[in-house]
Formats: sequence, C-alpha cells, structure tokens
Amino acid sequence: MCGIVGYLGNEEKKEILLDGLQELEYRGYDSAGIAVIEGEKLSNYKAIGKLENLREKTKNYSSENFGISIGHTRWATHGKPTELNAHPHLGAYSYVVHNGIIENYQELKKELQDDGVNFLSQTDTETIVHLFEKKHKTANSVFSAFEQTIERLDGAYATLLITEADVDTIYFAKNGSPMLIGFNGSDIHFASSDTPIIGKASEVYYLEDGEYGYAKQGELKLFDANGEKSFTKQPLTADKVSAQKDGYRFFMEKEIYEQHRVMSETMMGRVLDNSIDFDEIDKSFFDGIKAIKICACGTSYHSALASAYLFERIAKVRCDIEIASEFRYKEPLLSDDTLFITISQSGETADTLEALKMAKRAGLKSLSICNVDNSSIVRESDAAILTRAGIEKGVASTKAFATQTMVLWMLSLYMGQEKNSISKELLQTEIDAMLHTPKALLVTDDLHAKLHRLSKRYLHGHGFFFIGRDIFFPLALEGALKLKEISYMHAEGYPAGEMKHGPIALADSELFTIALMPKTMHYDKIKSNVEELSARDATICAISPLPFDLADDFIQTKYDSHPMLEFFEMMVVTQLLALEISVRLGNDVDMPRNLAKSVTVE
Ligand code: AGP
Repeated sequence: MCGIVGYLGNEEKKEILLDGLQELEYRGYDSAGIAVIEGEKLSNYKAIGKLENLREKTKNYSSENFGISIGHTRWATHGKPTELNAHPHLGAYSYVVHNGIIENYQELKKELQDDGVNFLSQTDTETIVHLFEKKHKTANSVFSAFEQTIERLDGAYATLLITEADVDTIYFAKNGSPMLIGFNGSDIHFASSDTPIIGKASEVYYLEDGEYGYAKQGELKLFDANGEKSFTKQPLTADKVSAQKDGYRFFMEKEIYEQHRVMSETMMGRVLDNSIDFDEIDKSFFDGIKAIKICACGTSYHSALASAYLFERIAKVRCDIEIASEFRYKEPLLSDDTLFITISQSGETADTLEALKMAKRAGLKSLSICNVDNSSIVRESDAAILTRAGIEKGVASTKAFATQTMVLWMLSLYMGQEKNSISKELLQTEIDAMLHTPKALLVTDDLHAKLHRLSKRYLHGHGFFFIGRDIFFPLALEGALKLKEISYMHAEGYPAGEMKHGPIALADSELFTIALMPKTMHYDKIKSNVEELSARDATICAISPLPFDLADDFIQTKYDSHPMLEFFEMMVVTQLLALEISVRLGNDVDMPRNLAKSVTVE
C-alpha cells in the first residue's frame, strides 16, 4: 500500500510533496521519491528508508516557479526496497508514480524488452512509463498516448505521470487503489487520501474506478470508458484529526469500518485465481520445515491461536503457539526444523522481539507477520509478510487482528500448496471463501444500530463469558479482550466445552454469555453447551446464522457457507459490541486507561 502525492502550480513544490508524503507515512514505506518539471528543468530525488532520508537529500533543492510535480512512498509489492525500485520511475523523458499491482506487467515488460527497452527496476510500475513513451511515438497527442497506456493495464492502479513532452500537465488514472484531486484556485493537488491536502486545497473530488484524465493550471479534464465526463467538487474538511477519523467518532470505529477495504489490500497480489503467492518468501523457504511455533502477545496471540487450527487442518503441519512473555523464561526445547513465526502489529513489542532473538540464537528460521515495515521485529526476522492494514491508531486492535488472521489463513494454504498436502478442490474452496471475506467484514447500518440498542443491557453484571469452539475459541478470547480493554468490565473467553468443568458454577441471570454459534463448525455441540448455561438462567447473547430461541439477545449473521467467513463476520459483531458498551460507559475508546498501543517494555 503506497502513498502518492502530486502538485501543479506556482508554490514551492518540494515542501508540498514532502509534507504530503509525511502524512502518508502510515501507509508504511521502504523508500520515497519526488520528481519535478519546472519549465525545461527536470529534477528527481529518491531515498530508501524513512522519509527524513529524502528530506536530507533534497535539503538544498527548491522549486519556486510554476511547475508539475509528483511524489511517492513505496511499500514494496514487487522488488526489494532499493533506490532503483523506488518511485518515481523514469523513462527517457517522463516520470511515473503508482500504487497498486499491474497484474499483466510481465507480459507488458516482455513486449517492451523485445522492443529494446532496458528496465532498471524489478517493479511492475516501470512498465507504465516505458509503455507510455512507446505509445507516444505514434499517438497524435500526449493525452492519447496516456489513454492508450491505461487501456493496456490490468489490475489495480492509482497513477500519476509527468513528461517533458507536456511540461504544464499532470496525467492521472485510478482503478482499484484510492486517489483524490484537491483544488485551490488554479492549483491542483493529487493524493492517496485527504490528509496530505488538508490546509492546501479547499475543494476535493474523489476519483472513481476507471476514471482518468489530465490537469493543467485552472483546468481539469476527466474521462471514463464512455468519454469525457463532468464532476462535482465537494468542500474539503479543514480539520486534520477529524479528517484522519473520516467523520467517525473514534479511530477504533473507523478502523472497524475500514476492515473490508484493507482486507482487499492484504490479499492483493497474494490471493490469485487458484493459488496463493507471497512475494516476500520464495518456494524454498519451507524446505526442511516440519513444524511451526508461533509467538505473540495479546490480540496477536489470538490470531496465532486461530491459525494453529488452520496449519494443522489444511497444511498438515504441527503448529504450537506461545505467549511471548512466558516463552522467554520457560527454557523451551527448540529444534531447527521448526519455523519460528512472530506476529505483531507494531513490530516493537519487547516480549515478542526478545522471544524472536532467543529462537534465532537457537538456530531457527524466522518469519514475522507485521503491520509496520522496517520495525524491529521485521528487521530481526529472516523474512517478513506485511499485513498492509495501514496505521492502526485505536489501542484496541481491530483491523490488525483481521489482517493477521487473513495472512495466516493464506500462509496455511500456501504451505499446503507447496507441501502438496492440500487437494486442488479444497484449495479452490478456501480461495473462493477468501475472496468473499471483504464482504463478510462490511458493517451494515442495521447491525450497528442493533448493537447500539442492545449494548444498553450489558453495562453491569458480574462478568461476561465469550464462548466458542475450534477457531471460535480464539475469537472468543479476542472478543473478551476487546470488551475488557475498552469497557473495563471483566470478560473471559472460554472453550465452550470447558464450561461444565467449573465455570458453569457462575451461571445466573447476571452472568452474560456471548455465544459464538457458527453453522459450519460443531453447531450442535455449541448449541448444547449454550442450552446448559441457559438452563441455569445465564443471560445469553447468541451470535449465529441460525435462529436460537433460548437466546435472550440474538444477532443473526449472514455468512453461513464457510467457517472463516463466519469467523470474520462474528469478529465484527464482537468489536462493535465492545465499542458501543464502551461509548455508553463514557470511556475513552481510542486510548483506554492503563494501556499503550505498543508495549515496548517487559
Ligand atoms: C490489542 O487490542 C491489544 N491492545 C494488545 O493486546 C496488543 O495486541 C499486544 O500488546 C501486542 O501488540 P503487537 O501486536 O503490536 O505486538
């Protein structure tokens, strides 16, 4: 998930671009770059690592006169984080920046190489600029060359192109990756999201998929497949923080709603029609691996627990899970045929980082699943798979958990694929379900309104049990943790089958049981567990696609065709329930007492 900015106008361009990229650093980056055309003067700067490296490189550069300019922060999808792979990519006289994945880039690259084009980078993006310059040789205008270029691209892209062939115009196109256009008098801004242009533009237009065009000073032409089209600008929010919240009450609320969108980013380029692929690891990565040990804390530990069922059931690989703070001091027996996986949203959790160092000292191969590139855990690991959830500001983790679980699900399929331990039919069934996940994560107004109403009944009581079986047991743990974190009420996740071994002694009308009752995973078993509780007067809130008449409260879910779709849909329900209870209690949803987003101390 990369960040893109563009600016056309008379103001100094370098600072506008770098400030804009700064606002996008949450999208993570492993390199950044800018390109400026000012009259006949073409300038281009790139740097790997943090944005301040690019600031350092450009400290003696400024661009005071009218010109066109583009900038980019890269979150690698194709090719390692190097300067050569950093955007903007240069042709002979043009520059391009791009966010997304050009799915037919190999075909285009070969076609261009056969025409004698030399590629400097390993990226898919570089094909765009060379293709443009090829088309420009025969097209009757620069715009026509750009239009013909876009027509050849398959996949997701938000792209900006500038060229010496037309020094007062920025060309743009959007499909599948976000991009907007900001207006400030005759100046024009482009960005991946609105925070980079807050305070710089007064009006905005959010591009739709399939739209493209060009911008000149005071003029913008917009097209789609049907030709030129009109567009309506809207006022731009002036307040950066509320812009960052996009109008939601809390970052956590926004991040719950974002899950369906970020999940598409997490899967992009990895979930293919009938296979799974990870750019970050090659096929030999699992050679000699006979078992997996996953180590994490808190919510990340819960996604690990859920994945253990998947690795053993799908990939047929033994998988055990460790709490990092326990693992560090237990003198574990480790063997070098075990892949040591760490999971961390921040990539800075002290216990997880130290556990990883222990495993490395013992000679284990390591893989991290993380949301922050270049973080300590990512740098310490032999390989890393990024969850691409984007910044998570709410201390109570939501989209990080969802994307971690998705990456682990993909990884279990990938291992099954590479070890030939999964049939093609099962692989296809899993992939088909995976592709429906963004829909299962969509928050409907009706669901949110129902949970808002229902939450008023759960503001007291002597505690909550969240119960589930199989992968729904880790989800029960996660639902309980969410509630604890932001309501400050006691909640416990428990394996449903274990209630009769003691905890059922607590059952009475003041004991609130949130029962996860999926149709596709041991429904009859969980139903009888819940009936035992109901018979002892516990107050039951059932979450299920199947009506359950013993429930005091009932939330009917829709997805009943695959356990993981039920998992993700029920996850959203438990997240919203915790949120609405916390709001009613008047708590600070985003920064709950005693907590920190990243626990970098023991
Ligand atoms: C998540 O809701 C919690 N705030 C917390 O448990 C968190 O998951 C844990 O501290 C681990 O953090 P990490 O994922 O950044 O390593």
